[in-house]
Amino acid sequence: MTELPRSTRALLELANRRPAGTALDVGSYLGAVAREVGCTYVNVDLTACTASGLSDTLHADELPTGPFAAIFFDAREYDPALAAETVASAALRLAEGGVLITTARPADVEACFAQVQAAGEALVASQPREGVEMPAWSAYEAAFGGKTYRIQSAPGVFSPRHLDEGTAFMLGEIEHRPGARFLDLGCGAGIVSRIASEAWGCQVTAVDVNARALRLTALNAPEAEVIASDGLAALGARQFDIIASNPPYHTDFGVAKAFIEGANRHLAMDGMLYLVIKRADWYVQKIRSVFGGCRIAEQNGYTLIAAQRRPAKPRAAAPAAPATTKKHAKRMAAAQKKKH
Ligand SMILES: C[S@@+](CC[C@H](N)C(=O)[O-])C[C@H]1O[C@@H](n2cnc3c(N)ncnc32)[C@H](O)[C@@H]1O
Repeated sequence: MTELPRSTRALLELANRRPAGTALDVGSYLGAVAREVGCTYVNVDLTACTASGLSDTLHADELPTGPFAAIFFDAREYDPALAAETVASAALRLAEGGVLITTARPADVEACFAQVQAAGEALVASQPREGVEMPAWSAYEAAFGGKTYRIQSAPGVFSPRHLDEGTAFMLGEIEHRPGARFLDLGCGAGIVSRIASEAWGCQVTAVDVNARALRLTALNAPEAEVIASDGLAALGARQFDIIASNPPYHTDFGVAKAFIEGANRHLAMDGMLYLVIKRADWYVQKIRSVFGGCRIAEQNGYTLIAAQRRPAKPRAAAPAAPATTKKHAKRMAAAQKKKH
């Protein structure tokens, strides 16, 4: 059994501090709190929902309306801005006398609750403050290719304030044509999907594990098909002519490996993969080993790797297996002689 992270253990230790009534678990590791107290498990990340193995899960960036007697919020893997918003949302969804038990930042909790008690490594908060409000979503203008796109953004989704420089570099390198089947792999707020569908006339599919990213992409790129998927896992046998990604930065390369290997399987023959990254060494080696080669361009510390799916090289023909063994051949020859 995997050891639970400290933040989840801290919440579990406080499970008996919850008042009677409906509880909600937001973000605990593998839904450990939901399993312990018997409640719905919410996570913004699809992989966390799937890994929990629980049937009562909600892949969402917003909390259900409630009201709840207790909300457990393990902020461990939440983006800080989304964590602050989740604390505010919890304050608005507690029943009278309800508590928030959380590992969110004390300043965020104190901003929303009048009573905050430290308990081990977690906080128990009650009495939501008057006038707590959800932070408003914002929008920005992204300029690309002589056009300007208005992009709705929200806490916790990349890119929050402007078109990312690496993404802009990648967009400028993509060779596209109207009608091309285009996969925006890790779509974030959906700027790539927007440009590929609106300006280039591609048939766009956008995937992400983040529930809020999917919601924003549906708003920002209304012509795109939006699918919750861990890498390309939910795409069945779908094939694409172009796959483009500014992949998430992770210290291990598990997600990157799945993106590259999945892209190779889901590209049509001669289809192109475009990836933009900052530290390129591992990616270049991996893409060369999977695709057999790639083209590299660099700009302001970003590396763009473009790789084409080509037919696998035929293997060198193995020497023909002997039709029979020497012993058997001798016996056959002897039998032939006898016949004559
Ligand atoms: C650097 S952002 C790029 C967003 C957007 N494409 C852009 O360029 O502005 C990477 C995105 O990959 C998503 N992501 C992370 N892990 C993923 C996975 N396993 N499968 C699909 N998407 C993932 C993140 O949620 C994030 O939205």
